[in-house]
Amino acid sequence: MMVKTEEEIHYIKISSLIVGKALAEVARHIRPGITTLELDRIAEEFIRDHGARPAFKGYEGYPATLCVSLNEQVVHGIPGKREIKEGDIVSIDCGAVKDHFYGDSAYTFAVGDVPEDALMLMKRTKEALYKGIEAAVAGKRVGDVGFAVQNWVEQYGYSVVRDLVGHGIGRNLHEKPEVPNYGQRGTGIKLVEGMTICIEPMINLGTRSVIQEQDGWTIRTADRKSSAHYEHAVAIRKDGCELLSTFEFIEEVVNQHIFRN
Ligand code: MF3
Ligand code: CO
Repeated sequence: MMVKTEEEIHYIKISSLIVGKALAEVARHIRPGITTLELDRIAEEFIRDHGARPAFKGYEGYPATLCVSLNEQVVHGIPGKREIKEGDIVSIDCGAVKDHFYGDSAYTFAVGDVPEDALMLMKRTKEALYKGIEAAVAGKRVGDVGFAVQNWVEQYGYSVVRDLVGHGIGRNLHEKPEVPNYGQRGTGIKLVEGMTICIEPMINLGTRSVIQEQDGWTIRTADRKSSAHYEHAVAIRKDGCELLSTFEFIEEVVNQHIFRN
């Protein structure tokens, strides 16, 4: 169940590629004054134009294509009338399904002049994702991945959100195993060649504790300090793991964007 064939991995990669390109299309439009719902429309149209459908829409009643989480919002922010403003950090999570297989990826964008502490949080959180990815090798365990993420960010005084975790991915958005962003080395389910998992650190500037907002979805930090989130889907290989999602297209946009996302 957790181990996929090469063909299945191929389909997950195709869906994840659509997600990476959808996020890049969204990145092109992130600027002060645009609403989070406008970004959602852009992503949905892109996904449908590429023969896929949004993975989150309808998932346990979730109403949108994207999760757009601003500043102290950690994840699962519902797109709506709220406008992005200069100085925001915006975490955008996107999923797509095509040919019965899911893709899932997330990126945090800086809008214009963002406070230094939030910029550093973003940088360290993205690094933590890659630390987790480096630890995701056949023969290691999910606890090794969690340890790598946690160990990286805690040295800077940041905290790891524990209430939400990464996950397996395939014919379902969320499959076994759970992939916490904290843990102890050598513990948990063993990673086997051909497993496909999403590693998605959610890292806070302040307390690790989070609460759910009144809308029943949005998760925010209890102390209202900033949070960042990045996610890749990967396939476990013998000597490492293979990225199935990509930030290549996103970062192409971000690196030349007027607001230096
Ligand atoms: N990437 C997120 C996750 O894996 C997205 C889920 S949002 C939901 O949990 F709306 F679909 F729940
Ligand atoms: Co996910």
